[in-house]
Amino acid sequence: MENLSRRKALSLGVALGLVGVAHPVQAWASTGSATGASAGPGPEWIWDDAADPVMASMLKSGHVPAINTAWASWVNNNDPLPSGLPTEFAAYLRQVNQLPSWADPAKLARAADFNRRRDTYLFMLYGLGSGIMSTVIPREAKSVYWSAGGADMQDRAAKTFTFGYDLSQLGAFEPTGQFVVTANKTRVVHAAVRHLLPQSPHWRAVADETIPISAADILVTFHSLGTYVHRKLLDWKIPFPAADQEAFLHSWQVAIALLGVPHEHIPRTWAEAQAQSARVLTPILSPSTEGIALAEELLGLTAQIDLGVTRGFLNEFVRYVLSDEVGDWLGLKRDYAAAALVRTGWPAFILFREGLSPIMPGTFYMFDQFVRALAMLFLNKGSSGTTTPITIPTGNRAG
Ligand code: HEM
Repeated sequence: MENLSRRKALSLGVALGLVGVAHPVQAWASTGSATGASAGPGPEWIWDDAADPVMASMLKSGHVPAINTAWASWVNNNDPLPSGLPTEFAAYLRQVNQLPSWADPAKLARAADFNRRRDTYLFMLYGLGSGIMSTVIPREAKSVYWSAGGADMQDRAAKTFTFGYDLSQLGAFEPTGQFVVTANKTRVVHAAVRHLLPQSPHWRAVADETIPISAADILVTFHSLGTYVHRKLLDWKIPFPAADQEAFLHSWQVAIALLGVPHEHIPRTWAEAQAQSARVLTPILSPSTEGIALAEELLGLTAQIDLGVTRGFLNEFVRYVLSDEVGDWLGLKRDYAAAALVRTGWPAFILFREGLSPIMPGTFYMFDQFVRALAMLFLNKGSSGTTTPITIPTGNRAG
């Protein structure tokens, strides 16, 4: 275990609702995945055999700027592949640009409906919970910081919103939706990063791996998103029927598959996801220079938008959803009055909003404005109000 003692990991796990710590050696031993333990290598030794060689070739031959231009108009799942793509790249896209055979349209439709019904909580948890958690996942923080996108976090955050936004749309997975294309573009960006980052002396100086973004890393990130949000909704006692939970998991299973993670390594149930998360996510959470800088940038950006709350409130909300331990790692300044407000006001807000208590708390409108403003931030795809297209980087952050 890297920087945490076993006991600290356990207490952090409890705070994040990601409990139960197994021996790290067994971390990936039983993924509880669709086909059981596979005979092949674990996901920490799997990158992307389909996308990586193609992207390395595209980058070496200087085709990427032309691909970025050509695919700008490729948006909907049923859009034809754009013309002007190099043959090899178009052949790759034709091969992967489809839902996996096991995708269940009924579950995906239900997930989309659930995402719409619960969007305010989801945006809040993805944005302030998962978004800031990503800065204490050292591999993710280091690769994001040292990749080209790390130099412009506003732009990067807007692109990441595109992923969450497209996933949350009603017809996300349907032919007129956009998620399959967005996921495919993201998969290609990750493949480019695998080729580019190892050439960065800055990244090499801090990385504990030679190639970034393994299937295991993607699963870790999935746990910081889907598994974490699922747990929090239950902890917050938001009504969450079993069929919604299953549908929500299914949409994530399809999303991770579209990002290139082999089916046999994708958890089958929330219980399995939770157990895997406790093994592979909670124990590795720790601060890094890069992560602290990214968190400050992300929270600074969020604070620029009028959420109707102070930066102290924002800091305390992050502490509330991620624990004081994480807040201390990131140096989030304390605001004890705001902390008291969050800890009493938020549960009361949920109870009233969900019709579980008839008493409207005095702080209701403040929290209401806060969740609405955060949701708008997502729904407008960042502060610009326009789609920020996902583009393939051609280099790394300079320094
Ligand atoms: C790019 C989502 C896992 C590192 C992106 C983009 C999206 C995205 C939407 C494109 C937007 C952009 O350019 O910023 C996801 C999702 C993941 C995941 C949904 C898992 C469920 C990971 C992991 C790492 C990572 C595990 C590293 C450990 C990066 C980097 C970029 C990127 C470095 C490129 C930033 C640049 O443009 O330079 N990701 N990602 N991602 N992702 Fe991921």
